[in-house]
Amino acid sequence: MPPPLTPPSEPVRVRVPAKINLALMVGRVGEDGYHPLATLFQAVSLHDDVVAAPAPAGEFSVTMSGEAEGVGDGPDNLAVRAARLLAEDHGVADQVGAALSVRKSIPVAGGMAGGSADAAGALLACSVLWDLDVEPDGLGALGARLGADVPFALLGGTALGTGRGDVLAPVLTSGCFHWVLALSDEGLSTPAVFRRFDELGLGREPEELDVADELMNALRTGDAPALARAVHNDLAPAALDLRPDLEATLRRGEELGALTGIVSGSGPTVAFLCVDESAAIDLSTQLARLPRVRAVRRARGPAQGARLIS
Ligand code: C5P
Repeated sequence: MPPPLTPPSEPVRVRVPAKINLALMVGRVGEDGYHPLATLFQAVSLHDDVVAAPAPAGEFSVTMSGEAEGVGDGPDNLAVRAARLLAEDHGVADQVGAALSVRKSIPVAGGMAGGSADAAGALLACSVLWDLDVEPDGLGALGARLGADVPFALLGGTALGTGRGDVLAPVLTSGCFHWVLALSDEGLSTPAVFRRFDELGLGREPEELDVADELMNALRTGDAPALARAVHNDLAPAALDLRPDLEATLRRGEELGALTGIVSGSGPTVAFLCVDESAAIDLSTQLARLPRVRAVRRARGPAQGARLIS
């Protein structure tokens, strides 16, 4: 029986980054329904904020705000599931509660791990609110049960992900990369993109699940043009098959001066790498005029993983 917890006092605020996959190499689907991956994640400055406030024992709720269209606020909400899972894992589900609020800027169903970010934020915020003793990798291991990208949302920076994308190794980078994100007027379902990937027969052999040395070198030296030549996304053909209009967005962004454009994860967000901040500002103004682009955001990478803010 764990000792009774001290009642929490103040709300705890956490900021969690979105991610871009600089490389996404995907194998054939496994028996668990997941695809083995080798991916290079970069956290970017676009973020969600998660606040955990005290609530009566056994009560776990969430209020969504910001760009949260289509995200429910019931027990299936990933932040609520994360809070409950953390409480259960520590054997305190009948002693603690949390009133969560999530302010979303990461696009929903956008291929930038917005749902995983909210789960990661709730895990960190509740662990502090409830003053739990958490092992260094404990939150990540728990988070992986909620979504493959949760461990990276906690870690942040730039990291190589293997397994389902949940086994992480930090990667050395220098400098700062400037991204322009074209958000779509409609989301794409990640499972649907993986299904189309299977239908197209695109899965790699296990020995082909590898990230190119050129990519690692470009990150280490902070060389944006070299990075642009090395980025790669195996899911892009599947995402483009489901959303052919993204092809025009990619092409236009490159014509307008981006070093390169990539589909972010399973899409439909398109991420453009720019040579510097002023190129990013120019590009973002122009991209906003394209059809089917709901909004344009500038972001820098790498960004910190989930962290407490005042
Ligand atoms: O883990 P998460 O809930 O983010 O994954 C959403 C869906 O994406 C999974 O249910 C699965 O269909 C697909 N997926 C996959 N292989 C991965 C990660 C996700 O097939 N490595």
